[in-house]
Amino acid sequence: MGTFDGRVAFVTGAGSGIGHAMALDLAAGGAAVMCADINEQSAQATAARLEEQGATAAALGLDVADSDAVKDALERTRTDLGGLHIVMNNAGVGGSGHGWAQTTDVNLDGVFFGLKHACPLLAEGGGGAVVNTASIAGLNALVRPAQYDEDPVLLEGISAYVAAKHGVVGLTRQFAVAFAQRGVRVNAVCPGYIVTPMTEPARTPEGGTQFLENLHPMGRLGDAHEVSSVAAFLASDAASFVTGTAVPVDGGYSAR
Ligand code: NAI
Repeated sequence: MGTFDGRVAFVTGAGSGIGHAMALDLAAGGAAVMCADINEQSAQATAARLEEQGATAAALGLDVADSDAVKDALERTRTDLGGLHIVMNNAGVGGSGHGWAQTTDVNLDGVFFGLKHACPLLAEGGGGAVVNTASIAGLNALVRPAQYDEDPVLLEGISAYVAAKHGVVGLTRQFAVAFAQRGVRVNAVCPGYIVTPMTEPARTPEGGTQFLENLHPMGRLGDAHEVSSVAAFLASDAASFVTGTAVPVDGGYSAR
C-alpha cells in the first residue's frame, strides 16, 4: 500500500526540475497527479511519464499569476481526478533576468492564489496538505559574486526573488494558522541551490558551479529528488502534527 493511495495531488511547475520530481514522487506513492505548468507541453510530458509508470495523471496549462485560472485548475482537478488532497505550489521563476513585477507576480502572488483557492477546497473535502516551494532566499539573503550586486538590473531581480520567497514563508505560516482547525496543514520547503534548468545561468559561467558549491557546507549542489522527498514527507500522514514550518533542504546553507 502506497503512502498516497486514493489521494489526488496538484503540482504547479510540474514540467521541469523540482516540480517534475514532486509529481514523480507523489505518483510513486500512489497519488493521482494533476501536472500544471505554464508550458503545457512540458506538463503533458510529465503526465505521460507518470502514466507510463502505471499512475493516474493529467495535465493542464496554467499561469499561476492568474488568480481565476488557478481557481479553475483546482476545481477541474477535483472534478477530473475525483478529489483534492495535496497541493504543491511550486512554480517559480529565477531572479536573474526577470524584473520586480514578473518575479513577484509568479513567485509570490502565484503562491498566494494557490493557497487562497486550494485551502478552502481541501477543508471542504475533509482536509489535506499544502507544500509551498520557498527557498533559502526565504530565510536569508543570497550571496552572489560581486558583479551581481553592482548591476542594478540583476540586483532588482535578486531582491524581488528574495522578497517574494520571504513572502512565501510568511504566507505559509499565515495559512497554516488560519486552516489549522480545518484539517489543512501548510508547510514550505526551502531548497539551497539545486541542479535544475533554473540554476543553469548561475552554474554555466566559469567557476559558477564551484562558487555555488562553496556556499553549502556539504560542498555540493542538491538534486531535485532531494527536495521532492522532503516535500512528499510534509504532504504525508507521517507529518500529521507538522504545520507552518519552513524546512531548509540546503546542505547546511542556512545553518551558518
Ligand atoms: P525550473 O525552471 O526547472 O522549473 C520551474 C517550472 O515552473 C517550469 O516548468 C516553468 O515552466 C514553470 N513556471 C514558470 N512560471 C510559471 C507560471 N507563471 N505558472 C506556471 N508555471 C510556471 O525550476 P526549479 O528549480 O524546478 O524551481 C521550482 C521552484 O523551486 C521555484 O519556485 C524556485 O524558485 C524554487 N527553488 C529552486 C531552487 C533551485 O536551486 N533550483 C532553489 C530554491 C528554490
